[in-house]
This record gives sequence, C-alpha cells and structure tokens, in this order.
Amino acid sequence: MPDDPYSFAHLTKAASLVRLSGVGIVLVSIAGAFAATAGWLSPGRLDADRMIDRFEAVNGEHPGFRRNHAKGVCFTGWFESSGNGARLSTAAVFWRGRMPVIGRFALAGGLPMMADGPAAVRSMALEFQSPDGDRWRTAMNDIPVFPVKDAQAFYDQLAAGKPDPRTGRPDPAAMQVFLARHPETARALALIKAQPFSSGFGNATYNSLNTLLFVDGARVARPVRWSMVPHDTFVPEPAGKPADPNYLFDALIARVKDSPVQWRLVLTVGQPGDPTDDATVPWPEGRNRIDAGVLTVMALQDEDDGACRDISFDPLVLPAGITASDDPLLSARSGAYSESFTRREGEAKPPSAVQPGTGS
Ligand code: HEM
Repeated sequence: MPDDPYSFAHLTKAASLVRLSGVGIVLVSIAGAFAATAGWLSPGRLDADRMIDRFEAVNGEHPGFRRNHAKGVCFTGWFESSGNGARLSTAAVFWRGRMPVIGRFALAGGLPMMADGPAAVRSMALEFQSPDGDRWRTAMNDIPVFPVKDAQAFYDQLAAGKPDPRTGRPDPAAMQVFLARHPETARALALIKAQPFSSGFGNATYNSLNTLLFVDGARVARPVRWSMVPHDTFVPEPAGKPADPNYLFDALIARVKDSPVQWRLVLTVGQPGDPTDDATVPWPEGRNRIDAGVLTVMALQDEDDGACRDISFDPLVLPAGITASDDPLLSARSGAYSESFTRREGEAKPPSAVQPGTGS
C-alpha cells in the first residue's frame, strides 16, 4: 500500500527497541527499558511492583495464580495464515501457512476461584509460534474499548473498585469520585455497557484494544488494532446467572470436545487522526480490515501444568515487523505482567478451578 497516507517516519525509541529485540523472548531487561521510558522507575512514581501490590491489596493473596485474569484454562491449536497480513507487516506470522499456537481463555479479575457470571469480561491470550522461530504474544478482551488510558488511572480504578468489607460491594461514592476525575472512563464504560456479551467463550469477539505499529517491507509503519472474530454464531448472554460457578468454562470444555473452535484474525488499519495512545476511544467505522487467517483451538489443558502456565502474555513480546505504538498502556502492561509472572512462578500453586480433563 505505497499510497497509504498513514506512515510513521520516525518510530519511537521504545518501538525501535522492541523491533531490535527480534525473537520474542521475554527479556526482563527490555521490559525494564520500557518501564524507564514510561517513567515507571522514577523514584516515588508508580511502578510495576506497586501496581501488583495493589492487585493483592484489592483481591487478597492467591499464590501461584496470575494477579489479573486469574481464573483460566490453557489451549493449544494452530493459526492458518492467509498471507494477507504480509501487506502490512514483514512478521513471519503473516507468511501464508500454518503454525502452532499456545493460548489461554480467562475471566478478568484477580480472583482465581470466582464464579462465572454474565458481567465477567472474557479474554483470549495467544502466542503465535511462527516458522522463523519468532514469537508474537497478544492478550485480548471481549469488550470494545479499555476503561482506562494509562497506568495511574488503572491503579486508581483498582482502589475505587475495591469491595467495602462491610457490604462486599465497591463503595459507589469512591467510584463516582474516580469517574468525575476520569470522564474518558465514564465514556468507555458507556460503550462497554452498550455492547451485549455473548453467551460463551466460543462465540465471543476478542479485541486487542491497544494499538501496535505494523511495519512493511518498505519500512512503512501503520497503526493496527486487531480482533479474533468467532466462526460460531453470536448469541447474547441469557438473563440470569446459572447455579454452576463454572458454567462458562464448562460450556467451553464441552464445545471444544465436540469439535475444533475457530476465529478469524481481523486486522484493522488506522487512519491519520485515529488515536494510537488512548485505548478508551474506538476507531471510527469504515477502516480498512484485513482477514489475516484462521485460529483453530483444538484442545484445552488445565493451567496447573498446561503450556500456558509459564507464559506471560506480555503485549511487548513482538516479532520483527511489529513494534510498540505510543500507547502508554503497553509499557505499563509489560512491567506489570513481568512482576506478576515473577511472583507467581516463585510460589506453590493450588489446583485451578477449571479442570478440562476431569470436568471442572
Ligand atoms: C495498566 C494496565 C494493565 C495492567 C496493570 C494489567 C495487568 C495484568 C496482569 C498483572 C495480568 C496477569 C499477567 C500474568 O501473570 O501473566 C494481566 C493479564 C491480562 N490482561 Fe492486563 N493489564 C492492563 C491492561 C490490559 C489491557 C489494555 C488489556 C487489553 C486487552 C489487558 C488484557 C489482559 C488479558 C487478556 C490478560 C490475561 C492473559 C493470560 O491469560 O495470561 N490488560 N493483566
């Protein structure tokens, strides 16, 4: 697309660093470099350690589990690339052909034994293992935008949403104060509420929410957001909450046992003026969308010893051909996921709530 008006002449320093990191190994030093660029390491500033401390203060301590999206299940399968994504990025993940994937379905929130519920945000995390040995890791949610735009707002929102020990519910006054300070969150929550949830994991659309820059063979970088769009028909979540505390995961287990479950990877290309640094704002309709291939989920494994257990789906583990944008959430996520990973890997973990082998 040589006449594409959206070209970034200068990639950010952070973006260049990610590109130079080449193979998608989780490099703590690289995460540290981003943290420093984002001001995470400045004295007295919010850093990854304080962020994860706050998750633990709000949700309690759950050794061995992820500090967010704590209830989940691993999956394995493959991605069949259509070759169309190669127009946007040199990453080998977009070469035509099939490659293995490791992933994880989860519910947002830091409670590993939480009951499934109609309002729980669902997620899909994925590692593409491309033919050149490179890795692309991405973690997506089934909401249209993210509620906050930077790390400080995320940190403050966690506190505002902390259940009051007297009522077991968040204090509405604290949330009101937060929303008054963050009108972008109030706007994002209205968009999230307006979009109905699907009935299960298998028929949900999962969105990147953050923007990355896809770099083509001519070194033209374009902003891209992406989605996993299900082959299974969308059915809205029925009213009411089933008694089974694992009803969403049990339905997923039954669905995968029945036959492989598929999604299309759809890349949406931003235009000049589309925000790249604010995940609370959706891009306008009518953007160029590219069908990059089909994801097939073949099997589920519990995360006590499944392949996803020892993976941190850090959004800055990127292959050559994809780099960071100026979205401040990316570096915040990278640092927080790394700290969560370090803590959970050093702890003994009780069995997970979701056990696909035995039925959960
Ligand atoms: C400052 C903002 C954010 C913070 C502090 C944060 C924090 C975390 C943490 C600590 C984990 C657990 C990581 C691990 O132990 O492996 C996690 C997982 C996850 N986060 Fe975030 N997150 C943020 C923003 C986002 C955004 C914008 C998305 C958008 C899609 C997102 C989607 C996910 C998903 C899907 C997972 C589950 C990954 C898995 O299954 O392993 N997060 N987050």
